Amino acid sequence: MARLQEAAGPAWRVTLHVEAGSTNALASVEPAAQHVVVADHQQAGRGRLDRAWVTPPGAALTFSAVCDPGVDTAWWPVVPLVAGYAVARAIGEVATLKWPNDVLVAGPSSGSGHRRKVCGILVERLNTQPPLAVIGIGINVDQTDAELPVPTATSLALAGRPVDRTELFGDVLRHLRESLDTFAASPAGFVDHYRARSATLGERVRVDLPGDRSITGRVVDVDAHGGLVVDTDDGTLTLSAGDVVHLRPGE
Ligand code: BTN
Repeated sequence: MARLQEAAGPAWRVTLHVEAGSTNALASVEPAAQHVVVADHQQAGRGRLDRAWVTPPGAALTFSAVCDPGVDTAWWPVVPLVAGYAVARAIGEVATLKWPNDVLVAGPSSGSGHRRKVCGILVERLNTQPPLAVIGIGINVDQTDAELPVPTATSLALAGRPVDRTELFGDVLRHLRESLDTFAASPAGFVDHYRARSATLGERVRVDLPGDRSITGRVVDVDAHGGLVVDTDDGTLTLSAGDVVHLRPGE
């Protein structure tokens, strides 16, 4: 625990749980800005779009950081993108972002070089005064192939980038604070940083939308408010939520 607090630095207050349901749920109980709840093992991890997030004991870095983004409500949809950008920077140049904030890496287990998901992020807004963001981050660090929940996932170890979980924790928190500060200073300009890390821009995609609908097209932009702009046969759409699948040639 002392190592975790030391890695986080004085700007953050860290609470460690050996076992927890969901760190997002725990961090929301008595929310306080700059509090981070870490679980060595999460038993009921929550993912985006009401999915579960499953990680084996001791192999992943799972935590939730409570932050005051310090921006007007109109800019809140960008907060998940800021979090993804921060994690990608902490992992290094190899990491790119599938919209909105899945962090991807390529690696030995990626076969044809297709990039796989190494981190998922769930941001929830609390109606406190000021409103606070619970930024839940799950990074696959040491999982073996057999321990991954889906074939589109990988871990840093499998991608040939073994890291110490505690050091990575400190790096992510540093980049998160720095990225949130950059964002708050110029919300409209943040997307330029994000675009430079995007694996989705320019891709042909299928986007599975909430409510069992999906669209297919080419991604032409991520707009200043974080919306995904897709050219489809039926015109240009700007999406605020959905699950993106990068299509391979011919798909
Ligand atoms: C996704 O669906 O990609 C988002 C996954 C987010 C998982 C993290 S793990 C730490 C935090 N606590 C949760 O219950 N979920 C997030």
